Amino acid sequence: MNIAFLASHNGSNMQEVMDACADGRLQATPCVVISNNGNSKALARAKREGIPNFHLSRITHPDPDELDKAILNVLEQYHSTLIILAGYMRRLGALTLSKYRGKILNIHPALLPKYGGKGMYGIHVHRAVLAADEKYTGVTIHIVDEEYDHGRIIAQCTVDILPGDTEDILAKRVLEKEHAFLVETISKIIAGEINLPAIQ
Ligand code: GRF
Repeated sequence: MNIAFLASHNGSNMQEVMDACADGRLQATPCVVISNNGNSKALARAKREGIPNFHLSRITHPDPDELDKAILNVLEQYHSTLIILAGYMRRLGALTLSKYRGKILNIHPALLPKYGGKGMYGIHVHRAVLAADEKYTGVTIHIVDEEYDHGRIIAQCTVDILPGDTEDILAKRVLEKEHAFLVETISKIIAGEINLPAIQ
């Protein structure tokens, strides 16, 4: 399995999957990294790991259709079989979505369908969860479709909210859980324990 990543900022989830591929926890190969942010840590990580990496954005491709085509070309060029949106802050174009339907996964730091959609990213998610006085939050991995945080959920796990939690403390605890859960979920996809018809 060749795993492609799209990431806008830090790329710590991406890094964990790359590490798992390198140390044998995952029988997969990271094949390419695309970022809409030329200065992202995600691109720097890809360079450090020696993985082909591309800055593709409105800056490199002002026409959205051309950007869509460029992203699709790179994904195909590197024979991507599974695509992980690992903190990717843009919607994918119609062409890429239709060519890779069912093969693109997103990870979200809450229990969707709650706390998802436009504007629900980063600290905003954890702020909303704490404001609602939830007893627990969690991590969701879902198939990507045309809407933010919307497609079929394939895996979820919970994370407890503890007394004294601040947004930052909770964000850190959820992110740590994301790292392990993303690797575990990809491993189950590879093993056929999670059935993704577009991939198996
Ligand atoms: C994660 O919380 C992920 O769930 C969300 O964006 C964040 C990305 O973090 N979609 P990182 O870039 O992987 O560190």
